[in-house]
Amino acid sequence: MPALLITDIGTLVGLHPKTTSVISGKNMADLPVLTNAWILCRNGLIADFGTADCLPSGSFDVCSAKGGYVFPSWCDSHTHAVFAAPREEEFVMKIKGKSYEEITAAGGGILNSAAKLENCPEPELFENAELRIHELIKQGTGALEIKSGYGLTVENELKMLRVIRKLKEVLPIPVKASFLAAHTYPQAYRTNHAGYIDLIIHKMLPEIADEGLADYMDVFCEQGFFSADETELLLEAGAKYGLPPKIHANQFTLSGGVQAGVKHHAISVDHLEVTDEDVVKHLAASTTIATLLPGCSFYLGIPFANARALIDANVAVALASDLNPGSAPSGNMNFVVSLGCIKLKMLPEEAINAATINGAAAMQLSDQTGSISIGKRANFFITKPMPSLAYLPYSFGEALVNLVILNGEVY
Ligand code: NIG
Ligand code: FE
Repeated sequence: MPALLITDIGTLVGLHPKTTSVISGKNMADLPVLTNAWILCRNGLIADFGTADCLPSGSFDVCSAKGGYVFPSWCDSHTHAVFAAPREEEFVMKIKGKSYEEITAAGGGILNSAAKLENCPEPELFENAELRIHELIKQGTGALEIKSGYGLTVENELKMLRVIRKLKEVLPIPVKASFLAAHTYPQAYRTNHAGYIDLIIHKMLPEIADEGLADYMDVFCEQGFFSADETELLLEAGAKYGLPPKIHANQFTLSGGVQAGVKHHAISVDHLEVTDEDVVKHLAASTTIATLLPGCSFYLGIPFANARALIDANVAVALASDLNPGSAPSGNMNFVVSLGCIKLKMLPEEAINAATINGAAAMQLSDQTGSISIGKRANFFITKPMPSLAYLPYSFGEALVNLVILNGEVY
């Protein structure tokens, strides 16, 4: 593969040193840039960058950024991107006034997706997801976490995780898998929670570990789903198989999920639409990342997370899409970054760091992506020319991504 030189870059964004793995608190407002720049990609990696007055010499393929901005690819650290079918019928129920809980009680929700997935053959599930993810890549996503959790039986959880494994093999971006059988109680275990937890711990986990199908242990710690005590049991079991936690916590209530996650050294605790001082205190005293999912708040009409309190307490905040058919049907990270600014009151610099370097950290990918750093993967996107950095989140909904570069090649 020949080296690729991108010239005429209006502004090159996100030049953190390669050694910076995560950014917390007030440092999140610091997003180093270079104007009138170029970037050189070799062997799939960022080989060098500089300003137009000192262009490198040699023989390269050359591509002009036409004055646009270059951003490190979005690192979307929380998705449910493998699912059998959308659930727009629930969307209409929602418009008519039903809440997420009421829709779930009426046969919608996670169990609805599980039923659809059960009837979807593995090759079709894979093709659906692959197509869906290629659309996300065109919108700038260059690293992705995907959860199981619409299987809820041994067979179907394995089916989902094998689909994710195949996606890891064929996609040009890094993908991480989280095991989320503890997403809800399947019908058969409605009144036998201990039985389902037992199934997860003694049947699913050993098989998944045996096939090396998961990177993380996930639990939906929420009233009506998995309690904090149940979450702790599951995290302990996951740890025995070397799976660190990345969990759903405090989406609707103060579930104790944050405290449980911090206690078990979670890589991230995600959602946090509901927080209090104790939650912030626990996170501030930990290395756990707070991953906020404003697309879910936007879609469900629930409160937005208190990003300012977290940042002010020196917590590392990441932004992710939560792409799923029930509570966040969009995986467009440009929109997520807009919501981070508009609804979470994050500065453009903070939101961009949250969706790039901190997203990478929430997938333990900081050494290979999340910033424009020499030696990292050459994964970035080029925008149309913009008047300023703030224009990207400001112009929500505008398609600004002109060109995607992955592993040093035009996508
Ligand atoms: O992250 N909170 C739990 N899981 C998803 C919703 C899943 C669904 O409704 O299908 C979420 O919001
Ligand atoms: Fe989720």
